[in-house]
Amino acid sequence: MKFELTEEQRQIWQWAKEFADTEIAPVAAANDQASRFDFDLLKKIGEQGFFSAILPEKYGGQNIDHVAYALMTEEIARVCSSTRTLFSVQISLVEKPILEFGTEEQKMKYLPKMATGEIIGCFGLTEPNAGSDAGNQQTTATEDGDYFILNGQKTWISNGCISQLALVIAQADKSKGHKGICAFLVDTDIPGFSTREIKPKLGLHASVTSELFLDNVRVHKSQMLGKYGEGFKVAMYCLDQGRFSVAAGSVGVNQACIDISTKYAMEREAFGQKIGEFQMIQQMIADMAADCEAGRFLVLHAAYLKDQGVRNTRETSMAKLFCSEAAIRASNSAVQIFGGYGFSEEYPAARYYRDARVLNLYEGTSQIHRLILAQDELGIRPANGPGSPMTPIDRLSYREKPTAKV
Ligand code: CAA
Repeated sequence: MKFELTEEQRQIWQWAKEFADTEIAPVAAANDQASRFDFDLLKKIGEQGFFSAILPEKYGGQNIDHVAYALMTEEIARVCSSTRTLFSVQISLVEKPILEFGTEEQKMKYLPKMATGEIIGCFGLTEPNAGSDAGNQQTTATEDGDYFILNGQKTWISNGCISQLALVIAQADKSKGHKGICAFLVDTDIPGFSTREIKPKLGLHASVTSELFLDNVRVHKSQMLGKYGEGFKVAMYCLDQGRFSVAAGSVGVNQACIDISTKYAMEREAFGQKIGEFQMIQQMIADMAADCEAGRFLVLHAAYLKDQGVRNTRETSMAKLFCSEAAIRASNSAVQIFGGYGFSEEYPAARYYRDARVLNLYEGTSQIHRLILAQDELGIRPANGPGSPMTPIDRLSYREKPTAKV
């Protein structure tokens, strides 16, 4: 077993770390306080090639692997979760599904412009009455000659108001249940499409969260992503990608909480000594460190499987569940270590605390991930699909999984 990064992975990590420290970190707190989406930063991220990271060269990409992508995501989240959300949605929830399900024409139309940030994408799945129950889509797609007419409303859509492209999930035939759902690539300047920003929010102040309104939006059939009836599968694929990046981002938040807490604990004095010398502070720091490292391994294991082309819904869910909850715990401990100053927006702990809270809500609540994992363990529904191959971790534990349907 080798726990080593390749030279290329190390270089990409270093590149992301430098960019995060020099370009994102200096503006993160001010953007958060002003609830400002930073278009200058978006431009820089595009120019630096961050949005092109996972794309093949023929679409203007750099073709990096998922291990390197996870490290980049972690570094961005370490300094700003709002920026990490922009980055993750663009890559995991829009570029990746176009790569996986798109026609060559769709790929050529969108991916090179997404690679530079000229086109920003959003993912329109969630609705006022379809959150965890993603299959309960009320947005309709009605066939009309060469077109589909879309009507409905989406909510909690990251990047929504600033997007040029929306991946919209809609129900085309209710009688078929989730097999009647279709996915569409919708240019947001199309008549009938509008947005509204959801403000104010508890955290992610520098990220744009939106409602999308589709009022008789006419979308040509050539804009369908995947086949007719494949929309739920497309959505689940998107979530498998997006959850991975939320997990990697959560590790970055955890790491940031360790960094700010250890620095503060070795500066701040109480009762005549550094607070870092008190065992109750040390206990919090030890727990944050163990959580962070365990989470990083879960993310890198999921990344490894993705790079092998192995379906890893189970490992992604596990990473997302563990890392998001660990980041929330770590940000809570950071506030505690900062004491009264943890409650002040003049110190960094408060922003991490507020931003962390969404991590186990979006892209599947902790409850949804527990459901996916428990049903897999019980043999009720194998998360990686029936007959999925053993992962290296399965092989390590020589474990036979239950297969019987309950
Ligand atoms: N990959 C591929 N296929 C999958 C899949 C996956 N990960 N998960 C399920 N499927 C398939 C199943 O195999 C099944 O296919 P068949 O009918 O052919 O057998 C089909 O999809 C239906 O599966 P289920 O019966 O399991 O579906 P369900 O309705 O019971 O839902 C669920 C399962 C896991 C609860 C799912 O609905 C879910 O993940 N819900 C949470 C949704 C979520 O995370 N929403 C957050 C969106 S984040 C966002 O939008 C904000 C943003 O901008 C960041």
